[in-house]
Amino acid sequence: MLLEGENIGFRYERNSWLFQNLNISIESGEVVGLRGPSGYGKTTLGQILAGHQMPQEGQVTIDGQALPLKGYHPVQLVFQHPERAVNPRWRIQRVLEEGGKPDSDLLSALGIQKEWLKRSPHELSGGELQRICIARALGNETRFLIADEMTTMLDAITQAQIWQSVLEIARARKLGLLVISHDQHLIKRICGRWISLSEH
Ligand SMILES: Nc1ncnc2c1ncn2[C@@H]1O[C@H](COP(=O)(O)OP(=O)(O)OP(=O)(O)O)[C@@H](O)[C@H]1O
Ligand SMILES: [Mg+2]
Repeated sequence: MLLEGENIGFRYERNSWLFQNLNISIESGEVVGLRGPSGYGKTTLGQILAGHQMPQEGQVTIDGQALPLKGYHPVQLVFQHPERAVNPRWRIQRVLEEGGKPDSDLLSALGIQKEWLKRSPHELSGGELQRICIARALGNETRFLIADEMTTMLDAITQAQIWQSVLEIARARKLGLLVISHDQHLIKRICGRWISLSEH
């Protein structure tokens, strides 16, 4: 499968264009990095590719078809701040099941403990809650994962553990991955190629 953004142009309201004529493509099984200075629109581009924002110009397609407007979205996004991505009043179990029933292999690969499921989001650490968000984004029908500073707030060891699990899962399922990060070392280590937004 191929996720493609063609001639993408985006601006917030009447602000100047963040980018125009931007082309980006990610194939199944590929790990692509996206870097660029703060404020250049990396998060925005991730949101456009995941269908959270509509570009004013150009289009996003999967194998030539427009992104689906309803049903399970094949492009899933994981944000930097997990606490902003979950309903604070829901139990973890319910948060997880938003993406469908998670399989237990996935939970153990991500080091998610059964006892966390009964708790509320504020009763988990940031890193624990981020694992929940990653598991939620990795439902069976996910084909592309956009990781926007996904492990930035974690210590180096947890960061390495989480990436190891996610890369293993991505490889096994031939997911396409877009890794948005300021961390050059991370991008060089895990990405086959990278795109730099400052060139646009
Ligand atoms: N909802 C919004 N309304 C108006 N402007 C916005 C909105 N969201 C972001 N922006 C602006 O758009 C620009 C791009 O933001 P974006 O978050 O995509 O950048 P980024 O490359 O992800 O930055 P960082 O590296 O700091 O995460 C910034 O100048 C930001 O202030
Ligand atoms: Mg950002």
